[in-house]
Amino acid sequence: MITVSFAKSVKSSDVFVFATVNGKVKNSELSNADLKIIQNALKQSKFVAQSEKIMTVWGSAGKTIIAGVKDEADLTFQNLGGNLVSAVKEDETAVYYPATDSVNEVVQVAFGLLLGSYRFDKYLTKETADKKLKLKKMTFITDNPAQAKKLFQEKQIIAESVYLARDLCSEPANALTPKIFADKIKDLSNSGLSVDILTVKELKAKKFGMLLSVAQGSANEPRVAVMKWIGNPKKKTFDLGLVGKGVTFDSGGISLKPGANMGDMKQDMTGAAVVTATMRSFALRQVKQNIIGIVGLVENMPSGTATRPGDIVTSLSGQTVEILNTDAEGRLVLGDCLWYMQSTYGVKKIVDLATLTGAVMMALGEEYAGLFANNDVLADNLTTAGQETGEHLWRLPMNKAYNKMLDSPIADMKNIGGRYAGGSTAACFLGRFIKEDTVWAHLDIAGVDSSEKGTPTCPKGSSGWGVRLLNAFIK
Ligand code: BES
Ligand code: MN
Ligand code: ZN
Repeated sequence: MITVSFAKSVKSSDVFVFATVNGKVKNSELSNADLKIIQNALKQSKFVAQSEKIMTVWGSAGKTIIAGVKDEADLTFQNLGGNLVSAVKEDETAVYYPATDSVNEVVQVAFGLLLGSYRFDKYLTKETADKKLKLKKMTFITDNPAQAKKLFQEKQIIAESVYLARDLCSEPANALTPKIFADKIKDLSNSGLSVDILTVKELKAKKFGMLLSVAQGSANEPRVAVMKWIGNPKKKTFDLGLVGKGVTFDSGGISLKPGANMGDMKQDMTGAAVVTATMRSFALRQVKQNIIGIVGLVENMPSGTATRPGDIVTSLSGQTVEILNTDAEGRLVLGDCLWYMQSTYGVKKIVDLATLTGAVMMALGEEYAGLFANNDVLADNLTTAGQETGEHLWRLPMNKAYNKMLDSPIADMKNIGGRYAGGSTAACFLGRFIKEDTVWAHLDIAGVDSSEKGTPTCPKGSSGWGVRLLNAFIK
């Protein structure tokens, strides 16, 4: 991770970044010669009218980058920070001169810089210049370095947690089995979380029937991880529960997926990664609430021991399920985890995250995650947090008609609806494992779990979508 620091001035740097808002530079830091160079450059380009734009010129001190924004919104500054990564890439140190007097500007730009400079390069044995990052350090000039540092602390924790989620999602399934994932979660104990791992023996004893039916075809045993953060010890209940789908590889099982892009299904544990990373950030931020996270970690594989289409299993809740498609496995994993969270820990407000359906990905693409909720206030609060962080949600319906599509003639329900409204029937399936008085939202993140082309704050690849949203939501 690039080292970020804040200072009133710097002595030397490989590259100098001057920010402008609407084409205006703060000139107090500039020599007259540089001011001329920059103003000329600004005049000759259409720079003024464009946002988050970057231009490189040669000033008296060396490589000089002019970075422009059109407005002073947090997300604009974050994008600018992300865009700086490619602009300074051959250099090791950079200094950023802000366009405004606001401490918030440098904090947001620095946050964007961290988000945008993420690289997953541990498996690249031969150094390729643009894949591995050279930039080591960026110093942000501000009148109030102490205040900037303090505000940035929280952003740094969140950025590191986004990195953790992206790392977990980028790992191939042979390097991140359910057991290895659970071990990594256990390691988070040192951030202040209390962690319990349920092994297959315990899952059998407790009767996680649906989750175990997904796992039974794989040579890699399942795990369920429970993470607790107690930020308000006086209160004996949990304020919020987070549940994540952690299918470390989804082949589809006996209802095998087609070969094309099947490798993407190593990321079918994004929900679990985001819940894990978010719990870490809550602990390190010392959030003053009690929050519990539960993730179901399984691998969905075809084999002689795998669940067959047509099999009927009994869930942890006691309800029976006819499994007509073994590729609709996420809901089976989540249903048991949701039930466990309510019945064992009495949680009354739950948000789950899952790469659950191709249908939601088709509907909303990479722009919005699907939001399903049984409570309008919760839905609105999540939507607002999405707008603040740029992790957008779009609410989709869950009603009786969709729910009815899950009825089975020989069991309490089937695990698939029909050809249509796949996101809604999946959500209704989960709803059958939500108690009457539980306030609940389900985020279908199948489309937003990675970025195909990359954005300023998310290089091509796993996005870690949800960590920022949930951190804003908890506030
Ligand atoms: N993990 C997939 C959903 C998915 C698809 C996520 C593409 C990201 C990209 C999920 O387990 C699945 O296979 N869902 C099926 C459900 C169907 C069989 C009812 C789907 O969406 O096709
Ligand atoms: Mn599947
Ligand atoms: Zn899946």
